[in-house]
Amino acid sequence: MATPVPVHEPHKFKTIRQIAFPSIDARKHNLAAAHFNVFNLTPPQVSFDMVSYGSGAMTQEQLAGQFIGDEAYAGARNFETLCGNINRVLGHTHVCPTHNSLGSVKILLHVFAESGQRLPSNARGRVDLHAPRGIELYDVRDHGQDVFTGNFDLAALEAGIGASRPPFIGAQAFADGQHPVSLANLRAARALADRHGLRLVLDVSRVVENAWYIQRYEPGMGDRTIADIVKQFAKTAHVILMDGAQDARANTGGFLATDNPADHEHFINEIVVFEGLHTYGGMAGRTMEVLARGLAEMCDEPTVQWAMQQTERFTARLRAAGVPLERGCDGAYLRADAFLPQVTAYPEHALACALYQTAGVRALVQGLAGRGEHLLPLQIPRLAMTNRQLDQVADAVIALHRQREQVPALSLERDGQWHDELRFGAVFADFEPVAFDCEPYLAHTLEPIAVTTREQRLQAMREAGWNTFLLRSADVAIDLLTDSGTTAMSTAQWAAYDAALPTPATSSAYLEFAAAIRDVYGYEHVLPTHQGRAAEQILSEVMIRPGQIVPGNMYFTTTKVHQEYAGGVFADVIVDEAHDPTSLFRWKGNIDLAKLEALVQQHGAAQIAYISFELSVNLAGGQPVSMDNLREVYAWTRRHGIPVMFDATRAVENAYMIQAHDPRYKDTRVKDILREMMLYGDGATVSGKKDFLINIGGLLTFKDNAEWARKSEAKLRIYEGGVRDGGLPAADLAAMAQGVREMVDDRYIQARVGQAQRLAGWLREAGVPVVEPTGSHAVFIDARRFLPHVDQDEYPAQRLSSEIYIETGVRTMERGNVSSGRDPDGSNHHPALELVRLTLARRVYSDDHLREVANGIIRLWQRRESIHGLRFVYEPKDLRFFQGRFEPMEAAAAV
Ligand code: F0G
Repeated sequence: MATPVPVHEPHKFKTIRQIAFPSIDARKHNLAAAHFNVFNLTPPQVSFDMVSYGSGAMTQEQLAGQFIGDEAYAGARNFETLCGNINRVLGHTHVCPTHNSLGSVKILLHVFAESGQRLPSNARGRVDLHAPRGIELYDVRDHGQDVFTGNFDLAALEAGIGASRPPFIGAQAFADGQHPVSLANLRAARALADRHGLRLVLDVSRVVENAWYIQRYEPGMGDRTIADIVKQFAKTAHVILMDGAQDARANTGGFLATDNPADHEHFINEIVVFEGLHTYGGMAGRTMEVLARGLAEMCDEPTVQWAMQQTERFTARLRAAGVPLERGCDGAYLRADAFLPQVTAYPEHALACALYQTAGVRALVQGLAGRGEHLLPLQIPRLAMTNRQLDQVADAVIALHRQREQVPALSLERDGQWHDELRFGAVFADFEPVAFDCEPYLAHTLEPIAVTTREQRLQAMREAGWNTFLLRSADVAIDLLTDSGTTAMSTAQWAAYDAALPTPATSSAYLEFAAAIRDVYGYEHVLPTHQGRAAEQILSEVMIRPGQIVPGNMYFTTTKVHQEYAGGVFADVIVDEAHDPTSLFRWKGNIDLAKLEALVQQHGAAQIAYISFELSVNLAGGQPVSMDNLREVYAWTRRHGIPVMFDATRAVENAYMIQAHDPRYKDTRVKDILREMMLYGDGATVSGKKDFLINIGGLLTFKDNAEWARKSEAKLRIYEGGVRDGGLPAADLAAMAQGVREMVDDRYIQARVGQAQRLAGWLREAGVPVVEPTGSHAVFIDARRFLPHVDQDEYPAQRLSSEIYIETGVRTMERGNVSSGRDPDGSNHHPALELVRLTLARRVYSDDHLREVANGIIRLWQRRESIHGLRFVYEPKDLRFFQGRFEPMEAAAAV
């Protein structure tokens, strides 16, 4: 059986590329500067560049390949890998590498063809390459087909060959991106070629999409794998050529391959003249490796099914709205003439300009102008976009279609043979602008996620002692354990990472980081640490005298432990609403000033070490603190001479919540809100693994108190590393500096928090009890209300998180009785909140992943009575949730 259509990406985003959203005024300016030909626009001027050539997301293994092998002039080992993979995937033995498919065509024509010859083909696109060489390409496509529109009209082919003997027969898989060919038809073309003593030369650049059509629509092929079909298809030809920037998702590269050693010899004799040497053919060694790995991966069944599903869905959305289009293997090809009947000349350029003007979306017309096709391809960069993004791009096209009568014709200012040469005069119309609220980034590389059966997951959970912390990541499909260090780094962060110069003294990366912190927080003293808890240790030791009280708005596990290790006594001063998972109070992170006042009355201000003020209170459900509360608490502490120390781990998310829910701040940038928030404190600890968009790193910072900074530096040297690195390599500091700049981007933070809101919405709709209101980094399920029949001492949240894994492969975390530990008398602490946390990694998962998470939990909700509790079989003393092991109560009862 063919793989079913996946409901979400079979991978997560490993690294991302940020995209730009130029304003409507900037777009008009750019269009004018580009002479109304979108070819002249650069990617920073474009939000969504709807081209599929060399723009796909690679796998992490492909990217890794970029650094493997050699750049030898002759006999590079990457070439050997490439030959091996071509042989394995496409079935041909002799490989002639080329710089890209133009290189392949150049060699082919040089070896086989002469000017004046006529060449039959099922594709038109290559006309551009043949006509200038005096070779006439003619159409032998069977125009009577409706699915396999790329099939050869065998009678026409036979007749054409009879009339004039061609150099070879040209075939293209998914001809012109629009016309798939059936395997049976390709085989018939091969038989015909053999009868006439001709070669069948096949372009396999889009063979994967073609194979998907064969799997789905060709009789008897439904049970075959994509890999099998691809190989059969490619082997049918005498010679194949491929463009590496298409299905193999390299950014360039190509090759010719054949089983015929004599043909191969001809090719490699020409290669040295035109391309390079026969063992690199004009490709860098790294390109050969990336291409080789891409070839090996391109037939991965779930990935192919996912990509094709995206194309089908995108096209269907446009079609349903009446947008005139034709099928494309990689998107929807708009029929510009039907879209804009009032525009008689160059409607494809007029449409491309209008689309860019309204939405910042680029669709590109390429090749020879004046062929009269008027198609504007909207291609999907392979695996780089989410369905949410594609829906919004489709909606932008649909919105333009509604205003199509206003699209002006362009006046030609400079003619030319090729589309990229044309220039047009300035015309703008007043369109309604389109706004995007999808992810402001594309996938750059992808990491596969686990596919497991229920039995495998049950076994994995038993081995993990019913503790999701003890599961192997390799067994997890969607990992919602934490948002800590799980970020997809941007290419800008990676660039900074690679460029950073290491030193045990003062690195430029440190200075960049310190400057970024001063910019976004306004704090002077910047002490890097390897992560948050290290900063907490130092802060606690510097600021707490044994016996002092540390009031905090709820607590975080590691924060409280360090305060206690330093001799402090934690006192909870969060508002009561925070302990009520059903309360809809918006600012559940707030401090109750009356509780603070009572502590001072009882112990005196001198007995208070500092206020430990967490932003976006994690254990309360990611609940924000209001700006008013920040201001009031700070004013109060000024009167008593008590410092305020933030846990600013998720301060940006808190700033976003203020922007979203405090009408006074709705037009203020998140960056400016954050800066104001930080005014109401004296210092902060930060786990950089959250807001800072980094996989490791932390921060201790003080606004202006040089004495605290100096005392902390003394500890930093002992516990962490140098005072200017905190034990972090310059590379991580550089990436963190860039992350700090990226974290305050309004679009990014809105897209991030929006995911949590949507996930909570789907659960809420189905009746699943979630903590209200939804916080910013996670959705918390109320396990008490989910499993009211399970006693809190049988750890309902721990059990629920285990069951979620077994049901769906989704990893979550308990935040309840297990996490909060035991009281001094040895009894469980019995916190008011007994929660399961679904935590969202930054820039990693799509809405489709999260929809599946919701569906799995809803299935559990429907059979919740069947779920029981757990008991400890191993209980560590501190932070027992990390390593504790359990067994199900029903198993204990059965013994
Ligand atoms: N403060 C808060 C609010 C946190 O959420 C965390 C970590 C820390 C401090 C400690 O920082 O891990 O860098 O040492 N929270 C992670 C989580 C572990 O999953 O919530 P760290």
